[in-house]
Amino acid sequence: MTKNTGTPAASGITLEVISKPAAPARADLLAVPLNSRELKKIGPAALKALGLEAAVLEDFKGGAGEIALAYRPASAKGAARVALLGIGEGRSNDDYRKAAEALSRKAGELHCATVVLDCAGIAGWATWARRSPAYLAGVIAEGVAYGSYRFDRLKSGKLDKKKKADEGKPKSISKLVLAGCGGLASEVEAGAEAGLVVGTCQNRSRELVNLPGNLLSAEDLAEAAREAGRRGGFDVTVFDRKRITELAMGGLLSVNRGSQNPPTFTVMDYRPEGKARKTVALVGKGITFDSGGISIKPSAGMDEMKSDMAGAACVIGVLEAVAKLALPLRVVGLVPATDNMPGGSAMTPGDVITTMSGITVEVGNTDAEGRLILADALTYAARELEPDVIIDLATLTGACIVALGMKVAGLFSNDDDLAEAISKSGQAAGEKVWRLPLWEEYAEQIKSDVADVSNTGSKGAGTITAAKFLENFVEGHKHWAHIDIAGPAFAAKGGTSSGGSGFGVRLLVDLLQSWA
Ligand code: BES
Ligand code: MN
Ligand code: ZN
Repeated sequence: MTKNTGTPAASGITLEVISKPAAPARADLLAVPLNSRELKKIGPAALKALGLEAAVLEDFKGGAGEIALAYRPASAKGAARVALLGIGEGRSNDDYRKAAEALSRKAGELHCATVVLDCAGIAGWATWARRSPAYLAGVIAEGVAYGSYRFDRLKSGKLDKKKKADEGKPKSISKLVLAGCGGLASEVEAGAEAGLVVGTCQNRSRELVNLPGNLLSAEDLAEAAREAGRRGGFDVTVFDRKRITELAMGGLLSVNRGSQNPPTFTVMDYRPEGKARKTVALVGKGITFDSGGISIKPSAGMDEMKSDMAGAACVIGVLEAVAKLALPLRVVGLVPATDNMPGGSAMTPGDVITTMSGITVEVGNTDAEGRLILADALTYAARELEPDVIIDLATLTGACIVALGMKVAGLFSNDDDLAEAISKSGQAAGEKVWRLPLWEEYAEQIKSDVADVSNTGSKGAGTITAAKFLENFVEGHKHWAHIDIAGPAFAAKGGTSSGGSGFGVRLLVDLLQSWA
């Protein structure tokens, strides 16, 4: 098995935007978006224009992401395979994102390389959704890229009987044609190009999350950041154990003690041409595998802890996207990385460690390791970068899943305006966050008898006490936010979109764009 951090095909989708109508285009699949509210009114005529019977509408309701396939007679011009594509009521970004994602996934299943999407209605969609056509085109392109992603690089196919028949056929869409754009073609193209960038970077983030611990060490994660830097054109510096020791990052070093692999601390620095409007520090938890260390985790679901570097993967993806979109902001990504393993030299419960900040921490549980490595990274961000804003993302607590479930992230901030902006971007990007308090009452729970603070809280509010712990390390910075992505970062196997979600990439890019 190759030890490889590069992404073979994060999307690789080429885009073509044309003014003229969709019908005569050559495609493997022609998609015709239909609004559920207007189905009765315009459905039959739309089908007739395509040479199809209205009977196709019998079971089609036009829900967002719903697809009905129809086949045109071979003599008709254009694509023989038509997908009626539901966009629901078409009032929210999510309607278009869901539709685009479903279409893309369906195209993959059907081995369709070229997909033409009829965008004749895009001016109307923009009105319904109260967004610009360019913005909506971006949402659609993001969705198409997202839906084209498959994590299949670890399948040799040797045991797959069906594979023979599918050999050589395309596995996902490689060309997206947005047709019928009329006078909006150039706007649509600009929006869609940007959407493809974001969707592709999000897929790269998902790929990193999906790679298991034996194929992605802290050094590999750092290498992935370097590769992102080469693609995006930003500086990447990787601190090794020696440098980490010089910086006295006691949190990161302590978590790494049980490991066979060295820790890394990666600094990604994107500076725009011209003056930066803001400096934003993004910190991502990079635990490449979390066994819990000596306070070892229960075995059920432990394999999913390969995803404990999802915060880091998100930050790497965002940096590449921001650089490729050339946003006028300085964005610095920080990734402290190691695995968390038990062993003869591992950190043990009861240990007291000294973090980079000088704050001492009693280790109540070695499984509360994320906050230890983040502590050092937050201190580094606050001290070394003079950032206007610090945002960290981490698969930090199981308690956040108890509170908010698998789809929504927890949000904490000492700045109401920042919290509001993040919530808004989360809504727009279809990556929702819900704010929880940082009230002083919770600080009680992480008091230690022997050190400045404990890394574990007494019973209750585990996601809040974790955030409260982190707050100690931002050196009084007034614009900090913490996003606990333990739930939405990764979906258990079996579902339609299991594995890494890339949660946070779209949200953060939207947020940064709003500051650009
Ligand atoms: N990485 C886990 C949190 C997690 C759990 C993420 C489930 C995704 C899914 C984190 O390091 C952890 O183990 N947290 C502990 C903290 C506890 C020991 C105070 C937890 O949540 O149980
Ligand atoms: Mn843990
Ligand atoms: Zn963890």
